Amino acid sequence: MKSLRKGIGNKKDVENYYDNWSSSYDETLYKWNYKAPLQSVNILKKYIKTKPKFILDLACGTGLFVDKFLQVYPDCICDGSDISRKILDISKRNGKYRYLYKKSFENKIQILNKYSVVSLIGAMTYCRNHQTLFKLVSYYLAKNGYFIFTHRVDLWKELKFDNILEKLTDFNSIYISRPLNYLPNNKDFGSDIKIRIVLLKKK
Ligand SMILES: C[S@@+](CC[C@H](N)C(=O)[O-])C[C@H]1O[C@@H](n2cnc3c(N)ncnc32)[C@H](O)[C@@H]1O
Repeated sequence: MKSLRKGIGNKKDVENYYDNWSSSYDETLYKWNYKAPLQSVNILKKYIKTKPKFILDLACGTGLFVDKFLQVYPDCICDGSDISRKILDISKRNGKYRYLYKKSFENKIQILNKYSVVSLIGAMTYCRNHQTLFKLVSYYLAKNGYFIFTHRVDLWKELKFDNILEKLTDFNSIYISRPLNYLPNNKDFGSDIKIRIVLLKKK
Protein backbone atom coordinates (compact mmCIF):
# COMPACT_ATOMS: atom_id res chain seq x y z
CA MET A 1 0.00 0.00 0.00
CA LYS A 2 2.88 2.42 0.73
CA SER A 3 2.46 4.91 -2.08
CA LEU A 4 2.33 8.68 -1.99
CA ARG A 5 -0.52 8.64 -4.47
CA LYS A 6 -2.67 5.88 -2.94
CA GLY A 7 -1.80 6.49 0.71
CA ILE A 8 0.93 5.58 3.15
CA GLY A 9 -1.12 4.13 6.01
CA ASN A 10 -1.76 5.24 9.57
CA LYS A 11 -0.09 8.12 11.40
CA LYS A 12 2.82 5.99 12.56
CA ASP A 13 3.41 4.73 9.01
CA VAL A 14 3.37 8.32 7.73
CA GLU A 15 5.82 9.38 10.42
CA ASN A 16 8.21 6.53 9.53
CA TYR A 17 7.82 7.19 5.83
CA TYR A 18 8.86 10.84 6.20
CA ASP A 19 11.62 9.97 8.69
CA ASN A 20 13.10 7.65 6.09
CA TRP A 21 12.65 10.13 3.27
CA SER A 22 13.88 13.19 5.19
CA SER A 23 17.50 13.35 3.99
CA SER A 24 16.57 13.31 0.29
CA TYR A 25 13.17 15.03 0.57
CA ASP A 26 14.22 18.47 -0.75
CA GLU A 27 16.17 17.03 -3.64
CA THR A 28 13.30 14.73 -4.66
CA LEU A 29 10.69 17.47 -4.48
CA TYR A 30 12.91 19.70 -6.60
CA LYS A 31 13.17 16.93 -9.21
CA TRP A 32 9.38 16.43 -9.17
CA ASN A 33 8.92 20.17 -9.82
CA TYR A 34 6.93 20.83 -6.64
CA LYS A 35 5.69 24.40 -6.90
CA ALA A 36 2.97 24.57 -4.22
CA PRO A 37 5.09 26.56 -1.71
CA LEU A 38 5.86 29.33 -4.23
CA GLN A 39 2.32 29.35 -5.65
CA SER A 40 0.86 29.59 -2.14
CA VAL A 41 3.11 32.52 -1.22
CA ASN A 42 2.06 34.29 -4.42
CA ILE A 43 -1.57 33.94 -3.38
CA LEU A 44 -0.85 35.34 0.09
CA LYS A 45 1.02 38.25 -1.50
CA LYS A 46 -1.97 39.05 -3.66
CA TYR A 47 -4.68 38.85 -0.99
CA ILE A 48 -3.09 39.83 2.32
CA LYS A 49 -3.18 43.54 2.92
CA THR A 50 -1.11 43.86 6.11
CA LYS A 51 2.27 42.26 6.72
CA PRO A 52 1.89 39.08 8.79
CA LYS A 53 3.73 39.10 12.15
CA PHE A 54 3.48 35.43 13.09
CA ILE A 55 2.94 32.33 10.97
CA LEU A 56 2.33 28.76 12.11
CA ASP A 57 3.38 26.31 9.40
CA LEU A 58 1.59 23.00 10.10
CA ALA A 59 3.19 19.86 8.61
CA CYS A 60 6.12 22.14 7.84
CA GLY A 61 8.42 19.44 6.50
CA THR A 62 11.92 20.75 5.88
CA GLY A 63 10.64 24.32 5.51
CA LEU A 64 10.20 24.64 1.74
CA PHE A 65 7.16 26.88 2.23
CA VAL A 66 8.69 29.28 4.76
CA ASP A 67 11.79 29.55 2.55
CA LYS A 68 9.60 31.19 -0.09
CA PHE A 69 7.42 32.98 2.46
CA LEU A 70 10.36 34.70 4.15
CA GLN A 71 11.53 36.06 0.80
CA VAL A 72 8.33 38.13 0.74
CA TYR A 73 7.84 38.65 4.51
CA PRO A 74 11.39 38.62 5.96
CA ASP A 75 10.29 40.03 9.34
CA CYS A 76 7.58 37.47 10.04
CA ILE A 77 8.27 35.07 12.91
CA CYS A 78 7.76 31.47 11.77
CA ASP A 79 6.82 28.54 13.98
CA GLY A 80 6.35 25.05 12.59
CA SER A 81 5.07 21.60 13.46
CA ASP A 82 5.36 18.14 11.95
CA ILE A 83 5.03 14.51 13.03
CA SER A 84 8.40 13.44 11.64
CA ARG A 85 11.29 13.98 14.06
CA LYS A 86 13.90 13.65 11.32
CA ILE A 87 12.15 16.18 9.11
CA LEU A 88 12.02 18.55 12.08
CA ASP A 89 15.75 18.06 12.69
CA ILE A 90 16.41 19.30 9.16
CA SER A 91 14.08 22.27 9.65
CA LYS A 92 15.88 23.10 12.85
CA ARG A 93 19.26 23.04 11.11
CA ASN A 94 17.91 25.33 8.37
CA GLY A 95 17.22 27.90 11.07
CA LYS A 96 14.08 29.48 9.62
CA TYR A 97 11.74 28.64 12.50
CA ARG A 98 11.53 30.09 16.02
CA TYR A 99 9.72 27.14 17.65
CA LEU A 100 9.27 23.68 16.16
CA TYR A 101 6.68 21.33 17.63
CA LYS A 102 6.64 17.58 17.08
CA LYS A 103 2.90 17.26 16.85
CA SER A 104 0.18 16.00 14.58
CA PHE A 105 -1.91 18.82 13.16
CA GLU A 106 -4.93 17.06 14.63
CA ASN A 107 -3.60 17.63 18.16
CA LYS A 108 -3.52 20.96 19.95
CA ILE A 109 -0.25 22.89 20.19
CA GLN A 110 0.18 25.00 23.32
CA ILE A 111 0.80 28.22 21.45
CA LEU A 112 2.41 31.31 22.95
CA ASN A 113 0.74 33.84 20.68
CA LYS A 114 -2.01 33.97 18.11
CA TYR A 115 -0.99 33.82 14.45
CA SER A 116 -1.61 36.08 11.46
CA VAL A 117 -1.32 33.10 9.10
CA VAL A 118 -1.58 29.34 9.48
CA SER A 119 -0.39 27.19 6.56
CA LEU A 120 -0.79 23.54 5.64
CA ILE A 121 0.97 22.94 2.35
CA GLY A 122 1.09 19.51 0.74
CA ALA A 123 -0.35 17.68 3.74
CA MET A 124 -4.17 17.87 3.82
CA THR A 125 -4.05 14.35 2.33
CA TYR A 126 -3.11 13.05 5.79
CA CYS A 127 -6.00 14.70 7.61
CA ARG A 128 -8.44 12.20 9.10
CA ASN A 129 -10.68 14.64 10.98
CA HIS A 130 -11.24 17.91 9.14
CA GLN A 131 -13.55 19.31 11.77
CA THR A 132 -10.82 18.96 14.40
CA LEU A 133 -8.23 20.52 12.12
CA PHE A 134 -10.36 23.56 11.22
CA LYS A 135 -11.30 24.05 14.87
CA LEU A 136 -7.64 24.05 15.88
CA VAL A 137 -6.65 26.40 13.07
CA SER A 138 -9.41 28.80 14.12
CA TYR A 139 -8.06 28.68 17.68
CA TYR A 140 -4.49 29.43 16.51
CA LEU A 141 -5.49 32.38 14.33
CA ALA A 142 -5.95 35.96 15.41
CA LYS A 143 -9.17 37.65 14.22
CA ASN A 144 -8.90 38.32 10.47
CA GLY A 145 -6.00 35.86 10.26
CA TYR A 146 -5.59 33.64 7.19
CA PHE A 147 -5.48 29.90 6.66
CA ILE A 148 -3.75 28.83 3.46
CA PHE A 149 -3.69 25.20 2.43
CA THR A 150 -3.50 22.90 -0.56
CA HIS A 151 -5.66 19.89 -1.22
CA ARG A 152 -5.63 17.23 -3.90
CA VAL A 153 -8.52 17.53 -6.37
CA ASP A 154 -9.11 13.75 -6.51
CA LEU A 155 -9.47 13.56 -2.71
CA TRP A 156 -11.53 16.76 -2.71
CA LYS A 157 -14.11 15.03 -4.90
CA GLU A 158 -13.98 11.79 -2.90
CA LEU A 159 -14.48 13.62 0.42
CA LYS A 160 -17.06 16.07 -0.94
CA PHE A 161 -14.74 18.75 0.37
CA ASP A 162 -17.04 21.56 -0.89
CA ASN A 163 -19.55 20.48 1.76
CA ILE A 164 -16.85 20.52 4.43
CA LEU A 165 -15.87 24.09 3.46
CA GLU A 166 -19.47 25.26 3.29
CA LYS A 167 -20.09 24.12 6.86
CA LEU A 168 -17.23 26.22 8.29
CA THR A 169 -18.71 28.92 10.48
CA ASP A 170 -15.43 30.55 11.64
CA PHE A 171 -14.07 31.34 8.18
CA ASN A 172 -14.85 33.23 5.00
CA SER A 173 -13.54 31.80 1.78
CA ILE A 174 -11.26 34.30 0.03
CA TYR A 175 -9.79 32.32 -2.84
CA ILE A 176 -9.87 28.82 -4.31
CA SER A 177 -7.48 28.18 -7.18
CA ARG A 178 -8.19 26.24 -10.32
CA PRO A 179 -6.65 22.74 -10.37
CA LEU A 180 -2.86 23.01 -10.58
CA ASN A 181 -0.22 20.36 -11.25
CA TYR A 182 1.11 18.95 -7.98
CA LEU A 183 4.18 16.79 -8.67
CA PRO A 184 4.32 16.85 -12.47
CA ASN A 185 7.66 15.04 -12.78
CA ASN A 186 6.61 12.15 -10.54
CA LYS A 187 5.35 9.37 -12.80
CA ASP A 188 2.51 8.36 -10.44
CA PHE A 189 1.19 11.92 -10.28
CA GLY A 190 2.12 13.43 -13.67
CA SER A 191 -0.67 15.71 -14.82
CA ASP A 192 -3.25 13.28 -13.39
CA ILE A 193 -3.17 14.48 -9.81
CA LYS A 194 -3.87 18.16 -9.31
CA ILE A 195 -4.26 20.38 -6.28
CA ARG A 196 -6.23 23.45 -5.38
CA ILE A 197 -4.81 26.17 -3.18
CA VAL A 198 -7.33 27.60 -0.74
CA LEU A 199 -7.22 30.83 1.25
CA LEU A 200 -9.68 31.29 4.12
CA LYS A 201 -10.00 34.27 6.45
CA LYS A 202 -10.99 33.93 10.07
CA LYS A 203 -14.07 35.95 10.99
C1 LIG B 1 4.52 16.49 1.30
S1 LIG B 1 5.20 16.96 2.85
C2 LIG B 1 4.92 18.71 2.84
C3 LIG B 1 5.90 19.42 3.73
C4 LIG B 1 5.97 20.93 3.56
N1 LIG B 1 4.76 21.57 3.99
C5 LIG B 1 6.30 21.27 2.13
O1 LIG B 1 5.48 21.93 1.47
O2 LIG B 1 7.38 20.87 1.69
C6 LIG B 1 4.04 16.38 4.03
C7 LIG B 1 4.46 16.60 5.47
O3 LIG B 1 3.35 16.36 6.32
C8 LIG B 1 3.82 15.75 7.50
N2 LIG B 1 2.66 15.11 8.13
C9 LIG B 1 1.93 14.07 7.69
N3 LIG B 1 0.90 13.82 8.50
C10 LIG B 1 0.98 14.73 9.50
C11 LIG B 1 0.20 15.00 10.66
N4 LIG B 1 -0.89 14.27 10.95
N5 LIG B 1 0.56 16.01 11.46
C12 LIG B 1 1.66 16.76 11.18
N6 LIG B 1 2.44 16.55 10.10
C13 LIG B 1 2.10 15.56 9.27
C14 LIG B 1 4.91 14.81 7.02
O4 LIG B 1 5.76 14.40 8.07
C15 LIG B 1 5.58 15.69 5.97
O5 LIG B 1 6.62 16.46 6.52
